[in-house]
Amino acid sequence: MNKDRILVTGGVGYIGSHTVVELQKAGYPVVIIDNLSNSNRDVLDGIERITGIRPDFVEADCTDMEALKALFAKYPDIRGIINFAASKAVGESVQKPILYYRNNLNTLMNLLDLMPTHGVKGIVFSSSCTVYGEPDVNPVTEQSPIKTATSPYGNTKQICEEIITDVIRSGAPIKSVILRYFNPVGAHPSAEIGELPNGVPQNLLPYLTQTAIGIRKELSVFGDDYNTPDGSCIRDYIDVVDLAKAHVIAVERMLTEKSESSIEIFNLGTGNGLSVLQLINAFESATGVKVPHKIVGRREGDIEKVWANPAHANNVLGWTADTPIEDTMRNAWAWQLKLRERGIM
Ligand code: UD1
Repeated sequence: MNKDRILVTGGVGYIGSHTVVELQKAGYPVVIIDNLSNSNRDVLDGIERITGIRPDFVEADCTDMEALKALFAKYPDIRGIINFAASKAVGESVQKPILYYRNNLNTLMNLLDLMPTHGVKGIVFSSSCTVYGEPDVNPVTEQSPIKTATSPYGNTKQICEEIITDVIRSGAPIKSVILRYFNPVGAHPSAEIGELPNGVPQNLLPYLTQTAIGIRKELSVFGDDYNTPDGSCIRDYIDVVDLAKAHVIAVERMLTEKSESSIEIFNLGTGNGLSVLQLINAFESATGVKVPHKIVGRREGDIEKVWANPAHANNVLGWTADTPIEDTMRNAWAWQLKLRERGIM
């Protein structure tokens, strides 16, 4: 049976591209909309090399309602949406709040607005563990309290979750699965796609691999005086391919009426917290490559520790993040080497 077409917004980006690969492997026809603001169209070649299929691609901005209408007119068979298109740098969001609210909120509202009239049944939304702030108790479940956001970026994730809830409560004939990601890391094992940070990476793993290859002199570990076993912050690092696979299951639930309710929320993490120093160790032992690093002061706004209780996703979706961290580290390293080989960085 032919599967329904899925619209992937932001499908050229890091998590989006890995998800397009898994969707295509599962037999879903895909159309990507992306404004390429934080990505490169060469990623489409990588997706094609992995899957043998070049996804349809529309270069446009999801805040542009007319462009979205034209897209739905061109692809009347779209039945599901996965919405990755969003700005995601915490620091930048503090500097440019309007950009963040405009991009992230308008994109979602435009999609929700157009879905019913175009026969789109459901939308998967990329949320974040940032909604839990600094949790009182770890691991966090989906019932853990939502904390006041500490950045406009984090606030957009909370508001977007509320917008989806309100729209569905109003009786809109659509479903949604909200996925709260912990810290996505790694790259496709083929090294055809991976993370491509713009400028100096703010996130730990891309900074680490760029240091390992010599682009950066040394990695700064932001603080070793936290209330954790080794003093550095703890996160739940989840392999990007594991994460991508969860989206395929979520889409399938929405389209085949398996969802238990019109809105479902899942934490996507491994359930294991790793400290910054443990992650550096895991990289060094998996690859045999040393990462020069030094301890510096804390980074403002950082959470001390947060990791997931993924039981709900494990039980209900039948999904587990089971890629060993060593494999994830080797894939991230292979991708960094590939970027050098291609002369990209
Ligand atoms: C951050 C955001 C999160 C967002 C995610 C998306 C905050 C509080 N959280 O997550 O909402 O969804 O980015 O990208 O901003 N570290 C170093 N040295 C570095 C870089 C990072 O020690 O050069 C440490 C950080 O202090 C942190 C850990 O590595 O403990 C992970 O940092 P990062 O990759 O930036 O992710 P988060 O801060 O967890």
